Amino acid sequence: MKKVIAIVGSLRKESVNRQLFNNYKDLAKEYFVLEEASIGEIPLYNQDIEQEPSSVTSLALKIAESDGIIFFSPEYNYSIPGVLKNAIDWLSRSKLKPFDGKPAAIIGGSPGNIGTARMQYHLRQVGVFLNLKFINKPEVMVGKVFNKLENGEINDQDTIDIFEKHIKHFAQQINRS
Ligand SMILES: Cc1cc2nc3c(=O)[nH]c(=O)nc-3n(C[C@H](O)[C@H](O)[C@H](O)COP(=O)(O)O)c2cc1C
Repeated sequence: MKKVIAIVGSLRKESVNRQLFNNYKDLAKEYFVLEEASIGEIPLYNQDIEQEPSSVTSLALKIAESDGIIFFSPEYNYSIPGVLKNAIDWLSRSKLKPFDGKPAAIIGGSPGNIGTARMQYHLRQVGVFLNLKFINKPEVMVGKVFNKLENGEINDQDTIDIFEKHIKHFAQQINRS
């Protein structure tokens, strides 16, 4: 079974984006194994630090050995949350080049109507430099996300349908590469 790494761009315990990840992971289990790799221990990037932190090395290794990566992230101030961008900046300097040619996707949920669309397009732009192979469709932008989750479960059929469609497309992509 193919193995995919999930990175959640929120550190908060009750994160709705982690709840989306948990639901997606469950729906995907017949297609691929999805495992979260934590970014919470990664220090702030500082080019003066010559020794790569072990939290970065182990994350880079997990991604390099995986068949793909999916970002589940909120939108902060119309863009990528700092904790996620910081992790990406560290990983971009890793000798393992964990993102190079890696199949990738973005899922995000927000309380507003357009469900992290602006963050997603910024992340896609960053992915151009990193040579991440983002799938283009379907886009999964879960607007009004707080109405669509109940006790950690998605209660909205349209969201479940788009997750299932996305899982099938992503599985095709990782099986091809
Ligand atoms: C610093 C900050 C900036 C935010 N900026 C946006 C934004 O630009 N767009 C948006 O839809 N929501 C924004 N929000 C609201 C988040 O979508 C909301 O807090 C969401 O629950 C965060 O995701 P999480 O639950 O996975 O942590 C922002 C929240 C914070 C704390």
